[in-house]
Amino acid sequence: MPSVKFTFPANFLWGTSTSSHQVEGNNTNNNWSLWEAEPGRIKTGEVSGIACDWWGGRWREDFKRAADSGQNTLRLSIEWSRIQPKPDSWDESAIDTYREMIHGMISLRLRPMVTLHHFTDPIWFTEKGGWENDDAPQLFLKYAQKIVPALKSIVKDWVTINEPNMVVFCGYISGHFPPGKTKSIKKAHQVTVKMIKAHASVYEYIHQQQEDASVGISQNYRDLFPKTKSIVDRFATNASHKLYNNAIMDVLSKGSFRYGPYSISLPKAKNTLDFVGLNYYSGNQVHFTFNVNEFLTYPKGASLSDNGFVANEPESFYRGLTWASSYGVPVIVTENGVENDEDTFRREYLAEHIHQLWRAWSNGMPIRGYYHWSLVDNFEWENGWSYRFGLWRLNIETQERTKRPSVDFYEQICRKNCLDSEDVAKFAPNIYRFIYPN
Ligand code: BGC
Repeated sequence: MPSVKFTFPANFLWGTSTSSHQVEGNNTNNNWSLWEAEPGRIKTGEVSGIACDWWGGRWREDFKRAADSGQNTLRLSIEWSRIQPKPDSWDESAIDTYREMIHGMISLRLRPMVTLHHFTDPIWFTEKGGWENDDAPQLFLKYAQKIVPALKSIVKDWVTINEPNMVVFCGYISGHFPPGKTKSIKKAHQVTVKMIKAHASVYEYIHQQQEDASVGISQNYRDLFPKTKSIVDRFATNASHKLYNNAIMDVLSKGSFRYGPYSISLPKAKNTLDFVGLNYYSGNQVHFTFNVNEFLTYPKGASLSDNGFVANEPESFYRGLTWASSYGVPVIVTENGVENDEDTFRREYLAEHIHQLWRAWSNGMPIRGYYHWSLVDNFEWENGWSYRFGLWRLNIETQERTKRPSVDFYEQICRKNCLDSEDVAKFAPNIYRFIYPN
């Protein structure tokens, strides 16, 4: 049978994503290090510890793995608490380390994408009230004013904040991220507004510094559909979609958001996206209930990752790409992946999601790149080390990395710049017929 190739445009970005706290190790000066130390906060009782030991220098070997397997870009985040360990002190040696890491990427022909905030805050910032503090946007800007000039000669692609909607939802509604508040609607709103203001002022600042910068935000998108046809489930779905997926993005695009009596108006935030960073994992069904744990579930029979955390719903990804494209700027998938130690599920998920990515691009959506989450198994927040998202498996005792078969599959995609039916037949034979039905 002749091979069928779904080819992507030239210069497409193919890479992997990580975040500081999840890979660096020895991050002891941020709110997550305090959170990990509180009994019961991490389901497995584990801590991030030395993580993937990037701060000890193992970024070198992992970057090389990425480059040797055909990737042309990497996304990492800067740990604010390292750069500004106290409100009035800056750590130049930490800045040098990030500079060295980014030079390391570039020498391997990996284009750097840098996130300034990925879930963690310095302890001093938390002590001042964190994102609830009215000064939070100003404090974040001050940090950006230190790190951006230091890196601007080597970085062009910036994500200001990773998943502000997750920070708000998990920190103030479900409570499984710090500060662990539940159903705090008012605070959730206040923090949302502050994060938007922080993004907007850093967006403006980066552009003052660097004319050709490309600045976006990474938004966690969930494709939501009602569990039943009942009016309340449909209402809950629509409300969640608007509030969770759209609110922040609408303000960054149009300067305002309104849903029923709820509204945000921040004209200064209008048009502060050069691209939409789409973090997509799954679609969810929505059920109207006051129990936050039963609100979002997966349909019966959904194909699930090891711990049931991610469902393989490729059509939902297509809808996510459509949604992201509706903001009228380029779209970069800044995260997509699954937790799966044995790797069969990952290969199938990868094949079906890259297929949808191609479908979206070939239907005219402005898709520029794809970053798989993640390069190597890393500390998965409240789920500790039990969720294995890496292309490479990590032995946390020995720091040994082992290549999962997905590495070879993803390498073919990156190098050929296409999804080739021969590779799908080889790496994901069980789902071949879904992608090539005839
Ligand atoms: C976060 C990552 C996390 C991933 C998998 C995303 O929401 O940005 O930090 O590891 O999901 O749960």
